[in-house]
Amino acid sequence: MNYENLQIEKSNFVAKVFIHRPKKLNALNRETIQEIHEAFKSLKVDDDIKVIILSGKGEKAFVAGADISEFADYTVEEGKDLAAKGQELVFDYLANFPKPIVAAVNGFALGGGLELAMSAHFRIASDNAKLGLPETSLGVIPGYGGTQRLPQLIGKGRAMEMIMTAGMISAQQALSYGLVNHVVAQEDLLPLAEKLANKIMNNSMVAIKAAIKAVNDNYVDGVNGFKTEINAFGEAFGTDDFKEGTEAFLNKRKANF
Ligand code: COA
Repeated sequence: MNYENLQIEKSNFVAKVFIHRPKKLNALNRETIQEIHEAFKSLKVDDDIKVIILSGKGEKAFVAGADISEFADYTVEEGKDLAAKGQELVFDYLANFPKPIVAAVNGFALGGGLELAMSAHFRIASDNAKLGLPETSLGVIPGYGGTQRLPQLIGKGRAMEMIMTAGMISAQQALSYGLVNHVVAQEDLLPLAEKLANKIMNNSMVAIKAAIKAVNDNYVDGVNGFKTEINAFGEAFGTDDFKEGTEAFLNKRKANF
């Protein structure tokens, strides 16, 4: 499928999904939200893809936010619809995606852009990256999960400060907050993402899918993540990957999942 605002490259079981709206610093309009959903929906069932790297095209921006020009004259109802549809189609969809998603933050990750990065399973950044939730400077609040995921990732006090000040933090600051896991020079960002993807792919993708769900269940109201873990741990014993992984270890060879 051809996308207007995405570029997708696939090789060696890794898909790289780039947001690509160069004239708008990759800002997320409705069309891009829909395209991200369609792209990930097809990657979900693509047997040739094990890990997804999510990044922004160009050297300046990962994603500079939701497209402000699109929602500037929205009504209350339209505002609610924008947030609800976005969360359903992209932000929750990616957070609960059964294959690992690594966000490679290559520049501005603001508003919906930071929220998109936070929906990935973890983040790495280039040293020029700037991250923030500037929504309160526009008279709104983060609407794509930012008020929930930022405190989960960096703690309530730091999240409150970022949301209230609407300021940007540097990649180094994001590293010290634990918002990103690694910071490298821009030219090293995608190679690092690929290296991490390859390391992930040495392991059982069946087990990783179960682990993503167990970790996420810690944050779902009314769900006991420990119970999810116990069940998923037990279920693992019935998988071919478990047999292969343990047999390989006992026979001192590399597992072939
Ligand atoms: N929505 C819509 N358009 C956006 C955008 C957004 N979130 N972010 C950037 N753009 C557009 C600009 O309007 C500009 O378009 P134009 O050339 O047609 O005027 C183009 O992208 C380039 O951006 P510009 O502001 O000229 O670049 P800059 O280097 O001077 O500043 C930023 C970069 C990221 C600091 C600035 O673009 C910005 O503050 N963007 C908005 C960030 C934001 O508030 N996001 C949260 C939205 S909820």
